[in-house]
Amino acid sequence: MADIKQDQLDALKADILTKNICPDLAEQATQLVMGDGNLDAEIVFIGEAPGKKEDESGLPFVGASGKFLNEMLAQAGLERSDVYITNVVKYRPPKNRDPKPTEKKAFMPYLLKQLEIIQPKVVITLGRHSMEYFLPGAKIGEIHGQPHNVRIDGDEFMIIPLYHPAAALYNGSLRATLVEDFLRVPEIISQQ
Ligand code: URA
Repeated sequence: MADIKQDQLDALKADILTKNICPDLAEQATQLVMGDGNLDAEIVFIGEAPGKKEDESGLPFVGASGKFLNEMLAQAGLERSDVYITNVVKYRPPKNRDPKPTEKKAFMPYLLKQLEIIQPKVVITLGRHSMEYFLPGAKIGEIHGQPHNVRIDGDEFMIIPLYHPAAALYNGSLRATLVEDFLRVPEIISQQ
């Protein structure tokens, strides 16, 4: 199954390159960062956009936020190879600025296609940029850690919105909340 999915994801990547999605971002980035992990994963994490380390390595969440994410995965009894990790926007925005609405919109069909290919049980959004698409108008402070069933273009997703690790990294109380929410994810999935 993973082989077929890999071929489908490779085709999706080729499509992004052929259609020259977000040419301004593409021009200044080192490379497209599609995603990484287990293609048969039950959990897909969606961040915002690659940062410097991700742009250099071609892999999502390998910098400081990624280390924190790895720590939380370990605490929850998971490894990176158990899950799949990607971003809404797949090129690094210059100087790590926030992705623009037009950039997020341009990449959304590709993110949805990625989810259709991987077919996870749960989608965990990290931060507001990825939450916003699945739960428009929601406030992360009010709904973090709570599962929501969402239907988009005929596909059903269970979304668990979490704070972004970068936001929580240097904020003690946000960090504690994020870790607490994170550790409840396996239980939420087991109740599915
Ligand atoms: N932050 C993100 O949102 N994504 C990454 O890949 C790295 C940092």
